[in-house]
Amino acid sequence: MISLTQAQPATVTADALVIVLARRPDGPVPLGDVPEVVADLVASAADVLALTGDPDEVHRLPAAGLRARSLVLTGAGDGAAPESVRRAVGAATRALAGLANAAVVLPDDGLATLTAAAEGALLGAYTFTRYRTQDQADRRSGAPLEQVQLLLGHRATKVETRAVERAQVVVEAVHTVRDLVNTAPNDLYPAAFADAARAAAKGVKGVKVTVLDEKALAAGGFGGLIGVGQGSARPPRLVKVTYTPSRAKQSVALVGKGITFDSGGISLKPHANMDEMKSDMAGAATVLASVLAAARLGLPVAVTAWCALAENMPSGTAQRPSDVLTINNGTTVEVLNTDAEGRLVLADALAAAVGEGPDLVIDAATLTGAQIISLGRRVAAVMGTDDARDQVVAAAGAAGESMWPMPLPEDLKDGLKSKVADLANVGERWGGSLLAGLFLAEFVGTTPWAHIDFAGPAYNTSGPYGYTPDGGTGMGVRTMVAVLESRCEH
Ligand code: BES
Ligand code: MN
Ligand code: ZN
Repeated sequence: MISLTQAQPATVTADALVIVLARRPDGPVPLGDVPEVVADLVASAADVLALTGDPDEVHRLPAAGLRARSLVLTGAGDGAAPESVRRAVGAATRALAGLANAAVVLPDDGLATLTAAAEGALLGAYTFTRYRTQDQADRRSGAPLEQVQLLLGHRATKVETRAVERAQVVVEAVHTVRDLVNTAPNDLYPAAFADAARAAAKGVKGVKVTVLDEKALAAGGFGGLIGVGQGSARPPRLVKVTYTPSRAKQSVALVGKGITFDSGGISLKPHANMDEMKSDMAGAATVLASVLAAARLGLPVAVTAWCALAENMPSGTAQRPSDVLTINNGTTVEVLNTDAEGRLVLADALAAAVGEGPDLVIDAATLTGAQIISLGRRVAAVMGTDDARDQVVAAAGAAGESMWPMPLPEDLKDGLKSKVADLANVGERWGGSLLAGLFLAEFVGTTPWAHIDFAGPAYNTSGPYGYTPDGGTGMGVRTMVAVLESRCEH
């Protein structure tokens, strides 16, 4: 929970007073208005601890002379850009797990900074404890920081209050994604995801959830979902979540890859790190959380989320390399590698989504290892039609998420030729993310479309940083909400 207050740094009561430090050549300086007693504490701490103000440099000290119980210094690097503030405040609240409340000195009095600080504070206050069985005391220290006061210095305006309310809705959506991604795949299979979607949508105004089970999928010609899901004892689902506001000039379809576990199927993956493939439903979680956030924010844009859910397993009923599937739009696909399953379920969902004539379609998917090779673990790849792709990249930049535009070179498409069907699901290895994007393009027709491949950024295996915890990151939600908001201005 976040609140805006007029309280002053030296006199506010809290378990921790958080100060953001900027890196400067002569040593770090506190951002925002701090009284001398705080400035002196910061200066001596910076000296004794040899602080630099680097990102992720977080220290907690006794707060002599203040009403707060402790002083927390968190580095923001060189700038005071909103994303630097978001990260610095998030790193601080993440370090304060187990405490009840903190007060944050705002680095300046701009609305963008306020939004970033609110988002950062909430994003950092996350822990996943579902499977921990320690006693109450342990569990308490694993609980996220409960309360954050932002020291505004004046009475909050309507606009400021609304910015904080929006931040709470958006970050709650991010936490929903993190929880779903972190949930073990024995608990989160396609039907369980569908139940979770129904539960999450309950009571949200203007939202309707429709679930197609395996019988409906077979009858409806969803060959991709059926083919990928047929090796599992837990059958596939297509979950459609529609948000229909009373007045909407635009409609957007969001499509998410929802492989609740990706073993590779008969084209089995190596065992090292296979556990990470519980995160292969991050796209579906992202679109689900995003449509619910749009509804909670009451955005005047119609949004439909499509969660393409299946478990990719090897078994006697699994699909084989050389099987031919018929996707929802009639296109036939020869499955040459059962581990290239995401594009098969997405093909079905994209074809169904564009069939309803949206103004824009965006898909999110942990689609290719090649995305991690090309852009690393923190930057997502965006492909699609030029304008839609650029809009998504711009929205990501504004929201503080790292996404980068990638091309869809026509000449690579030859790689997807099949000797027997319209398309093969794999081609040559080089440019693997682009080839996957070209495959998806076959199913979106002429609808403006952006494809986000966040195989790396959706799941963090390299230790927490900034506001990003281990495991599910929830990356993508902020960008999706930003795109939907920008659509309201049209
Ligand atoms: N889910 C994986 C992609 C992935 C890899 C996500 C690593 C996160 C981390 C996807 O289904 C997959 O297996 N892709 C294959 C495609 C290949 C067979 C053409 C890949 O990238 O190796
Ligand atoms: Mn795979
Ligand atoms: Zn996969």
